[in-house]
Amino acid sequence: MCIIWLWSLLLINVLNTVAQDCPEYIRTQYDYIIVGAGTAGSVLAARLSEDPRVQVLLLEAGDKETDRPETPFITTPGLAKQLRNSSVDWKYFTHPQENALFGYKNKQAALPRGKVIGGTFALNDMIYQRGSPGIFDEWDKKGAKGWGFKHVAPYFRKSVDTKVIELSKSDLHRSCGPMTVSTLQPTSLLNVYFNATQSLGYDAINCNEKEDQGICRIQTNIRGGERLTTAKAYLNEARGRQNLNIVTKALVSRVLIARRQAVGIEFIFSNVSFQVLASNEVILSAGSYGSPKILFLSGIGSREHLYNLQIPVIADLPVGENLQDHISVDIRVFVNVSTMKPNSNLNRLMIDQYFYQRKGLMASIGGSEAFLFANTNKTRLSPYPDLQFTFTSTIADHDHKLLRVMNKDDELIKSWYSFGKKRDGITITVKLLHPKSRGHLKLNSTDPNEMPIIDPKYLSNVEDIKTLYEGIKIVKSIIETPIMQSIDATMEPTFKGCKEFKFDSDLYWKCYIQTFSDPGHHPVSTCKMGAFNDVRSVVDNKLRVKDVFNLRVVDASIFPEITDHPNAATIMIAERAAALILK
Ligand SMILES: Cc1cc2nc3c(=O)[nH]c(=O)nc-3n(C[C@H](O)[C@H](O)[C@H](O)COP(=O)(O)OP(=O)(O)OC[C@H]3O[C@@H](n4cnc5c(N)ncnc54)[C@H](O)[C@@H]3O)c2cc1C
Ligand SMILES: *[C@@H]1O[C@H](CO)[C@@H](O)[C@H](O)[C@H]1NC(C)=O
Ligand SMILES: *[C@@H]1O[C@H](CO)[C@@H](O)[C@H](O)[C@H]1NC(C)=O
Ligand SMILES: *[C@@H]1O[C@H](CO)[C@@H](O)[C@H](O)[C@H]1NC(C)=O
Ligand SMILES: *[C@@H]1O[C@H](CO)[C@@H](O)[C@H](O)[C@H]1NC(C)=O
Ligand SMILES: *[C@@H]1O[C@H](CO)[C@@H](O)[C@H](O)[C@H]1NC(C)=O
Ligand SMILES: *[C@@H]1O[C@H](CO)[C@@H](O)[C@H](O)[C@H]1NC(C)=O
Repeated sequence: MCIIWLWSLLLINVLNTVAQDCPEYIRTQYDYIIVGAGTAGSVLAARLSEDPRVQVLLLEAGDKETDRPETPFITTPGLAKQLRNSSVDWKYFTHPQENALFGYKNKQAALPRGKVIGGTFALNDMIYQRGSPGIFDEWDKKGAKGWGFKHVAPYFRKSVDTKVIELSKSDLHRSCGPMTVSTLQPTSLLNVYFNATQSLGYDAINCNEKEDQGICRIQTNIRGGERLTTAKAYLNEARGRQNLNIVTKALVSRVLIARRQAVGIEFIFSNVSFQVLASNEVILSAGSYGSPKILFLSGIGSREHLYNLQIPVIADLPVGENLQDHISVDIRVFVNVSTMKPNSNLNRLMIDQYFYQRKGLMASIGGSEAFLFANTNKTRLSPYPDLQFTFTSTIADHDHKLLRVMNKDDELIKSWYSFGKKRDGITITVKLLHPKSRGHLKLNSTDPNEMPIIDPKYLSNVEDIKTLYEGIKIVKSIIETPIMQSIDATMEPTFKGCKEFKFDSDLYWKCYIQTFSDPGHHPVSTCKMGAFNDVRSVVDNKLRVKDVFNLRVVDASIFPEITDHPNAATIMIAERAAALILK
């Protein structure tokens, strides 16, 4: 008690020094100011400060990841879900949806985002999946010149330390970079599932190789049974450098712009506002919700929206438009062999297994083990798969506390999610990899503390529902394979909802998709990268905000088009940005 108290006193004193007269801890001017210490910001700060001649300031709204009661939940992979709605979460919500989230209260889902050193990587599922080579070639073709697969591959490679034996000889990987990539221990049902999908004609492949249709084992950023964020893998080593200052609990409220040139930033610390200057550049790495928010507050966005907010317009750009996110739907499959039960997650054995060996369910990502990639596009011209199926070796959705934090409807939790609670089963999650629906992000007020209005417009394009339905048909065919039948695989027979429709009819599945689909938590493209004359883009192919000098955006918001799980590509973007900036 005493020690903690002393420590906090000390901390307060240190912070007060920062807050009142900065000089010792914060200079008045830096070469580069980076906003946000998440996936991208942590990489960028570490890479830029490798050059001892440049002075770098990294500002983060959240706290240090090591100083919080949440720390064990950040490090232990199996406990990540407990971080939702905690003090390291921004606690955002979607705007009520018209075509999706029918199973959520008021059709609004919680949108967790990390507010801590490590950013959203501190609470995500740690899946490392780069995305199809074909999607990066699309980026290049559609105006993000120089971001084709052959251009980005070296930066993916630079970041990784792969422990996946099958990839050890691949020229797309290496085993001496900072980000460890590994596969999890397989459960016995994984073989059954591989067999089932292979018998349907899907090849066994390696995730993160060139071939991207087939079935592969999931790779994750787990090292020694613990979560490895970019803060750990990159920033930890850089922390001691004289030329890098990291300030936490600093909420950046705007970029200071003089004559169309970014000259510094303003941030709020302990309720006091500070300004710091940047002699070279300001770089926003505040994420797909944070970066557009700061741009709006700085006078960069659509003229109309800024006018409504009474913010003077500095650059009229489509900030916050083009919001893309994945959407997925869980199919529960009951079987007659024993599987893990999520409600017994934290039994003594699992805890012991984790603490003594860093193994077991607590060292894993909730039982998710494999990805199947399929292309349902009949035109056969599509250069990448449109569906991803996640195999999870447990019935994944019975944690009622988690369902409530997600904002699921109480009645539904009681009926649907309680059914089959004690039964054995697996979950096949159908995810739309390239949704056609587009949403947007706007501000509700000019208060930097307020949540933005986030409207992903999930399933607003009817093609998206159709493609998910194609996915459900594939799941049905998997269930019908002889090997799945040999373990009595069967889909939910007595679902209480959508009962106005005949079970297994087209309308039933449309209702099911709109009711049970969940947000992908992969928002991208709110500060879309594109050709200079592309009016729908915010940054150019060097990630520079158009019409404003010395200002870049480096995070998941610049994706021209959604890929796969975005974290790997976000790391790649930060690696590439560092190289561009230091050149
Ligand atoms: C529940 C969940 C599970 C996920 N699982 C996976 C997965 O398994 N694999 C995968 O690839 N992706 C996953 N993702 C997505 C992935 O984590 C994100 O795409 C990625 O972390 C985005 O990185 P970023 O650098 O753009 O933003 P972030 O990592 O969110 O970093 C932004 C940082 O900026 C800070 N910030 C924001 N505004 C301000 C401000 N005004 N002032 C100061 N600081 C500010 C934030 O606090 C944060 O630290 C998941 C996401 C969620 C929510
Ligand atoms: C699947 O398993 C069956 C028997 O269990 C076996 O005969 C078959 O060869 C397997 N198929 C594949 C593709 O592994
Ligand atoms: C922060 O400042 C606002 C006004 O600027 C004030 O209303 C509020 O009480 C302050 N909060 C704290 C914690 O000091
Ligand atoms: C199929 O692929 C083509 C070519 O990429 C694309 O134009 C079309 O929109 C896709 N169709 C669907 C239903 O996704
Ligand atoms: C988040 O936590 C607060 C209490 O800290 C609680 O009031 C709120 O209902 C929770 N939100 C959700 C969606 O569970
Ligand atoms: C927007 O602001 C209004 C008025 O202050 C408030 O009632 C509303 O809840 C806010 N909306 C969001 C999404 O925060
Ligand atoms: C599951 O069903 C199969 C086929 O009916 C049967 O051979 C097997 O014994 C059953 N297994 C269990 C654990 O009940």
